[in-house]
Amino acid sequence: MLKVAVFNFKGGTGKSTTVGNLGACLCTRDRSIVLIDLDGQRTLSFSLGLDGDLPTALDFLSEREVTPIETSVRNLWLIPGALEMFQLSADEDLFTPALDRLSGYDICLMDCSPGLGVSSVQAILSSDRILIPVICEPAVLKGLSEAVQLIRGDRPEVPIDVVRVRYRPRLVMTKEADDLLTEAAPELNFRLLKTCIPEGVAVAESIAHSVPVTVYAPRSAGAKAYKSLAKEYLKVWYGN
Ligand SMILES: Nc1ncnc2c1ncn2[C@@H]1O[C@H](COP(=O)(O)OP(=O)(O)OP(=O)(O)O)[C@@H](O)[C@H]1O
Ligand SMILES: [Mg+2]
Repeated sequence: MLKVAVFNFKGGTGKSTTVGNLGACLCTRDRSIVLIDLDGQRTLSFSLGLDGDLPTALDFLSEREVTPIETSVRNLWLIPGALEMFQLSADEDLFTPALDRLSGYDICLMDCSPGLGVSSVQAILSSDRILIPVICEPAVLKGLSEAVQLIRGDRPEVPIDVVRVRYRPRLVMTKEADDLLTEAAPELNFRLLKTCIPEGVAVAESIAHSVPVTVYAPRSAGAKAYKSLAKEYLKVWYGN
C-alpha cells in the first residue's frame, strides 16, 4: 500500500479538500483508497458526511480493531477523525503497526492537522511520499520552505510533491508565486505538480453537501482538475 501524508504546517491551505477529492478521483473498481482523518477539527470526515458516533483514527492507532467505513463513493474508505486526537502518545510509533493492518488497500491518504503535532510527525515518518498543497500568494515560498525543512529534518530523502490549490491564474501574484515555486523546486528538492486546482465555488459547495466535487458538480472545473491531478499522480507514483 502506498502511504501519502498530506501536510502543510500552515493552516487552511486545502489539505482536507485535497485528500477527499483526490481520493475520490483515485479510486476505481480495482483500486481501493483509504483516507485517514488525523485532524481533531475533522473537516475531512464532515466533508464526506461521516462525522457521527463512529470508530475513529484514535481508536485505530490505539490498536483497537477498526474497519474503515465506505463513503458514498465506491471503493473510497475513511477512518474518521477524533476530537481527542491531541491525546495521542508521542512515546511510541503507533502508525507503522496500524498502517500494516490496512495492507489490503492500494493507497492511503492521511489528512494531517496544521502545525506539527504528534500525529503529523508520525504520519510523516511512516509515509512513502508527502503531498503539500499550497496557495499561490506572496508568502507561498516562506510557508512552503518551512514545511519542507520540517519534513526534511526527519525524512531527508522522502519524495515531496507540491500541488497548487485555489488557483487563480489571472492574478499577477499567482504568476509571481508560480515563478518562485518553479525556481525553488530543485533547490528545496520537491516536485511541483503541473495540475493546478482552480478556486471555484463548486469545490467549496461540495463540502457542505458532504460529497466530493466529482459527485456534486462532475462537469465543474474543480472536478476536472482533481481528475487530472489523480492521473498525474498515478504517473508520478507508478510511472503509468
Ligand atoms: N479549490 C477550491 N476552491 C474554493 N474553495 C476551496 C478550494 N479548496 C479549498 N477551499 C476552501 O478552503 C478552505 C480551507 O480548505 P481545507 O479545509 O481543505 O484546508 P486545510 O488545509 O485542511 O485547513 P486546516 O489547516 O484547518 O486543516 C475551506 O473553506 C475550503 O472550502
Ligand atoms: Mg484540514
